Amino acid sequence: MLTGLQPTGTITLGNYIGAIKQMVEYQEKYKSIIFIADMHAITVPIDSETLANNIRQLVAIYIACGIDPEKNLIFLQSDNEFHANISWMLECNTYFGELSRMTQFKDKSAKNQNFTAGLFTYPALMAADILAYDTHYVPVGIDQKQHVEIARDIAIRFNKKYGDTFVVPEPLIREAGTKIMDLQDPTKKMSKSSESQKGVIRILDDVNTIRKKINSAVTDSVGKVNYDPENQPGIANLINIYTSLTGVSKEEVVEQFADANYGTFKKAVGDVVAEKFEKIQARYNELINSDELDKILDEGMKKSREIAKAKYEMMKNKIGLRR
Ligand code: AMP
Ligand code: TRP
Repeated sequence: MLTGLQPTGTITLGNYIGAIKQMVEYQEKYKSIIFIADMHAITVPIDSETLANNIRQLVAIYIACGIDPEKNLIFLQSDNEFHANISWMLECNTYFGELSRMTQFKDKSAKNQNFTAGLFTYPALMAADILAYDTHYVPVGIDQKQHVEIARDIAIRFNKKYGDTFVVPEPLIREAGTKIMDLQDPTKKMSKSSESQKGVIRILDDVNTIRKKINSAVTDSVGKVNYDPENQPGIANLINIYTSLTGVSKEEVVEQFADANYGTFKKAVGDVVAEKFEKIQARYNELINSDELDKILDEGMKKSREIAKAKYEMMKNKIGLRR
């Protein structure tokens, strides 16, 4: 199992539910690789200092959230030069047309007219991340499903052309973790890069701020806790948050809060999030300035290079990049 997170901005409740929480569960079940997708972060403009801070912060957050360095290979993508090399060989087996159909590219390129070639070829780099490690499963949020699918297509195509080289990966998408929305605009994804302050819960927000944000979440005039994403998107979002963090089913939540007003329900959701994040923040504060982090990354760099180098050599040889 392999997955990565981009170090672009302090991660949100959406990232926690959509990505990190699953990794913590999967580490018990699968041989796991978790990496910081820092080279993906430079596909859009980002300040150098900010990027460097985000990278260190993200490693500390991963571990504080329960990612166990004993059970996972943890590394930085940019510490491993084989990702970019493999990506190039994959790009040359990827069609312009298929990259043009990526919805994330369409969204992001529409936002900034001066988008880069890297933004366009990003899915090939992601395919390299995945395929270099014979990955079977890729836990991601629903918005990344298309990128895992293109990685599959590229793997199948390469295997056909050059003989068996890659495991064909599958996305692992969880129902309850699916897309957490902005608290102020529940039709919009809760996003790290969002300008919205009140609508986005960050993992390092202090717990009073978290409670306040949830208390002022936009709801509706129905006035009853139902799971109806179409007509009550705000409440549906809060139900998703609650179920994801507690494991209680949607039906049970609706039943449990059948007679409650929105204020009571919001308080319950706020308690659940605050309790979870308080523990994570305590561990984060221990880690952030320790050299334990650097040791973990040095070890990860060494191991990940060994694995990716073997795949790189195999690809070169098959393609005919040999003497
Ligand atoms: P991003 O923050 O867009 O770089 O996404 C990093 C990871 O977190 C990906 O696996 C996303 O699918 C997941 N993710 C980000 N935002 C959300 C969200 N609001 N709800 C669920 N998953 C999310
Ligand atoms: N593109 C992913 C995102 O934005 C991050 C990522 C990069 C990734 N490479 C990956 C996720 C490989 C899973 C597997 O969230």
